[in-house]
Amino acid sequence: MAGLRGALIVLEGADRAGKSTQARRLVEALKERGYKTEGLRFPERTTEIGRLIGSYLEKKSNLEDHTIHLLFSANRWEQVPMIKEKLRSGVTLVIDRYAFSGVAFTSSKENFDLHWCKQPDVGLPKPDLVLFLNVSPEVAASRGGFGNEIYETNSFQEKVSKRYAELMEDKTVNWTLIDASQNIEDVHRQLKELTEKAIEDAKDKPIGKLWE
Ligand code: TMP
Ligand code: MG
Repeated sequence: MAGLRGALIVLEGADRAGKSTQARRLVEALKERGYKTEGLRFPERTTEIGRLIGSYLEKKSNLEDHTIHLLFSANRWEQVPMIKEKLRSGVTLVIDRYAFSGVAFTSSKENFDLHWCKQPDVGLPKPDLVLFLNVSPEVAASRGGFGNEIYETNSFQEKVSKRYAELMEDKTVNWTLIDASQNIEDVHRQLKELTEKAIEDAKDKPIGKLWE
C-alpha cells in the first residue's frame, strides 16, 4: 500500500549464531509472502570506508582503536540516506549487524566504556525489532572453528557476549532474544513470525532515532 513504510529489522549475536544464514532465509521468506524486502549487512565492505574496515579485520592494516570504531559508525551513516529512502518507499530491511555490534565489540577492548562507544551511532534510524540470536559457547564451538579475522578468538567473543547482555538491558530498544541453538527451521519460523508482526506494527509509525 502507498504511504506505508517498511520495517527496520536487525539481527545481532555472537559469531556462528547463524545470523547470515537466517538473514538470507528471512529476506527470501518475506519476499515470498509479498513483502518488499531487502537485506543489508554491516560492515558494508564494498565502500571506501568499508575497504579500510575490511583490511583492518583481515589484519592487513592496523588502525588505532578509536579510529576503527568511528569508521564502523561512518560505514553505517553513509548508508542512512539509502536506508531511509527504502523504508519510506515501503521496503522492509533486514540488516545483519548494526550499531549494537559496533558497541559490543569496541567496548570489549581495554579502556572503552559503553557510553563512549554508543555516541557516534546516536540518532541512526532505530530498528523496529532487534533479533538477538543466542547460542551457548558449546553450540557455537560445535558449528566449527573461527575464521582468521581479528576478533575471532574465544576470549574476545566471551567479552563481546557480556557487552551484548548489558546492551539488552536497555528497554528503549525492542530486543527479542532467540534461542539459536534450535535447528535452522525452528529459528527461521520464529524470526519470520516476529518480523511479520513488527512490519504490521511499524507501517504507520515514524522512523525512530536510536539512543536519543
Ligand atoms: P562480519 O563477520 O559479520 O562481517 O563482521 C565482521 C567483524 O566486525 C565481526 O567480528 C564484528 C565486527 N564489527 C565491529 O567490530 N563493529 C561493528 O560496528 C560491526 C558492524 C562489526
Ligand atoms: Mg565474520
